[in-house]
Amino acid sequence: MKTEAIRPVRALSGGVEVPGDKSISHRYAMLAALAEGTSELRNFAAARDCHSTLACMKALGAGVEVRGATVRVTGHGLHGLKSPSGTLDAENSGTTIRLLSGILSGQSFSTKITGDASLQKRPMKRVMAPLREMGADIRGRDENFPPLEIRGARLRAIHYQTPMASAQVKSAVLLAGLYTDRETSVTEPAPTRDHTELALEEFGAVVRKSNRTISIDPDPKLHPVSLDVPGDLSSAVFLIAAASLVPESSLYIGNVGLNPTRSAVLDLFNQMGSSFTVTHLQSKGGEIVGDLSVKGARLKGGLISGELVPLLIDELPMLAALGPYTEQGIEIRDAGELRIKESDRISALAENLKRLGAKVEEFPDGLRVLPGQLRGAEIDPRGDHRIAMAFAVAGLGASGETRILDSDCAAVSYPTFFSELRRLAQV
Ligand code: S3P
Repeated sequence: MKTEAIRPVRALSGGVEVPGDKSISHRYAMLAALAEGTSELRNFAAARDCHSTLACMKALGAGVEVRGATVRVTGHGLHGLKSPSGTLDAENSGTTIRLLSGILSGQSFSTKITGDASLQKRPMKRVMAPLREMGADIRGRDENFPPLEIRGARLRAIHYQTPMASAQVKSAVLLAGLYTDRETSVTEPAPTRDHTELALEEFGAVVRKSNRTISIDPDPKLHPVSLDVPGDLSSAVFLIAAASLVPESSLYIGNVGLNPTRSAVLDLFNQMGSSFTVTHLQSKGGEIVGDLSVKGARLKGGLISGELVPLLIDELPMLAALGPYTEQGIEIRDAGELRIKESDRISALAENLKRLGAKVEEFPDGLRVLPGQLRGAEIDPRGDHRIAMAFAVAGLGASGETRILDSDCAAVSYPTFFSELRRLAQV
């Protein structure tokens, strides 16, 4: 296992492009495998998670050709998947297993799908319940955990009210809705990322949205696409935070996805007093992209709670780890979902912040991080990519050396993160 040593730097400067968006890449890969013909997906995520999805789609009979960041996927139509010869492996990826469960529920064959040790501890009942209601036979360990065994069926359309604000659950039901005979709809308790809806439309499905209800018509003929995946804002956030934290920084991050259901973190940075501008806004494949210029700034901090939480759920580790460097500290509430991500992120954040000397109070649904100077320490990211990157950034402002153990886990979403950080750092 690799360890990365982080020391304070004078500035972060230069230009960078982050890898393609993880959430969008998963969806394009799955839908391309259900389309009739070959799709070309450019700037496809380098994230390991998305390559887990590609491997699953290949095992299900799609043609997959990877040339750097350009991926060509050949599908044989909505009903063209084949029974895989072995168990599908989603590795560390919750999005892969949950979204694919929706698709597998509509197949005429049975599939087994599993993942790594972390994924095998993550709850699947949230997708099993609606998919069973639609007629799929799904079994899991202890009725909740991978491996899942999915016996597909001709599905019944339902109207589903998601009990939690989860884009993965919404997406699993909408994808299963492709295999029914009537309109399927999902109502969310709070808005979540809408990449599934946008991607489905790009591939030719009919999707409607009214307030918090999204509906899909069954059995569309999906056509192949030629699309550019926007850069991943959730990856860019580590660099935005780093540049904000280090006073003399001046960083240009090109081609970042700014979908309104993802960009709440930028509004928050803005409210906290960070210094950034957005330029070259344009629309690509239904998604919005733009360039960001970020400079060092004094951040105010504050409370993050309520309906804001699902809109910046993946950015919370970074925001919490910035807490000590803000004027008022950062408090996160209503974020119990963080405990069932790639690690228990509330516990991982509290423990590692304390190792750096921060004052932290942990709650069942969040944490409060007080302002204060940090000193370098050893960080255990618990195999969680976002914890590793959040603490690498926090280490830039700590005295002495911060050592990120098992730093390779960053590859789950951002394989070149540490090399980019070294390249941009001015000592
Ligand atoms: C994702 C949805 C979110 C997010 C995850 C990616 C997606 O999970 O945390 O990293 O691509 O749909 P939930 O749906 O569990 O909130």
